[in-house]
Amino acid sequence: MQIRVSTSSNIALVKYWGKSDAAINQPAAGSLSVGLDALRTNTSISTHTGADEISIAGKSDHDSIARVKAFVDHCRRSFRFTEHFLIESRNNFPTAAGLASSASGFAALAIGINRMMGLDLDSVSLSRLARRGSGSAARSVFGGFVEVIPDEDAYATVVSPADHWQLSVVVAITDEGSKQIGSTDAMNRTAKTSPYYQNWLSSHAEDLQAARRAVLDRDFDLLAGISEFNCLKMHAAIMTSRPPVIYWSAATLAVMQKVQALRDEGLPVFFTVDAGPQVKVFTLPEHEGAVAREIQGVHGVLWTIQTNTGGDPVVEVIPS
Ligand code: PMV
Repeated sequence: MQIRVSTSSNIALVKYWGKSDAAINQPAAGSLSVGLDALRTNTSISTHTGADEISIAGKSDHDSIARVKAFVDHCRRSFRFTEHFLIESRNNFPTAAGLASSASGFAALAIGINRMMGLDLDSVSLSRLARRGSGSAARSVFGGFVEVIPDEDAYATVVSPADHWQLSVVVAITDEGSKQIGSTDAMNRTAKTSPYYQNWLSSHAEDLQAARRAVLDRDFDLLAGISEFNCLKMHAAIMTSRPPVIYWSAATLAVMQKVQALRDEGLPVFFTVDAGPQVKVFTLPEHEGAVAREIQGVHGVLWTIQTNTGGDPVVEVIPS
């Protein structure tokens, strides 16, 4: 039997930045995200005699292989099975774009192993399992708008399903180089050295509450305001770490300013930026074409990807 899983990447509107226990990716606060339907990881899993064989994007010497191996070992220990796997994973978006693939990647693995081994995990346990691979993966086991509840063993839950509110996202790729520092190290540095980190954490619950309200009421302006505020607060804390971390390129800032100008002209639009230089620009579906053309015209934007929000996982069982 082979299990094929397709999961989508997600983008946080209220961000996860900081761990209270790094060994288990336990976040210091909650987060709220939405699935990006067109940015997908496709993973196939079958059992295999001998050691695990893992390939990512057709390569078995990929940087992430050790993390995947550690995750599979964790599954064997936790659920007391001894089987090994043949795992092949590919993103349908260019990995060079520096878009988060660990979220969709580890969510696909958790869903696939759950199904392959008949673990029958409920959605809370499945989300917790994915989180052990990557904090943001806890959210990608679901589509739609999803929130992480940071109890003593954090998990994600659906705020509203994908069809509750359809948004469009234009992803502006401004730099294809690899990032200077990964999210785990940068989170650690921010927590230890940024004078803004405690404020970042103490103001988080308020942002989550506003974002949840905005999603449930389909209030674009409220979601726009809270998302940009939360994104800039996260980057302010990151930038004021010692030594500082600046994830933006010149074009990152140019896109943000373009978004502000478009909003001043009356378009419903807002930006968010993760731990890298690409900008995700949100709008309503009827304005997607116009917004994409404007963003493509910003000096320094290399190319764009357009996607709807959504992202429900898809699982296929191929009998042997
Ligand atoms: O899941 P990680 O360790 O890649 O961290 C994700 C961090 C951000 O993307 C910046 C924010 C988030 O909530 O996804």
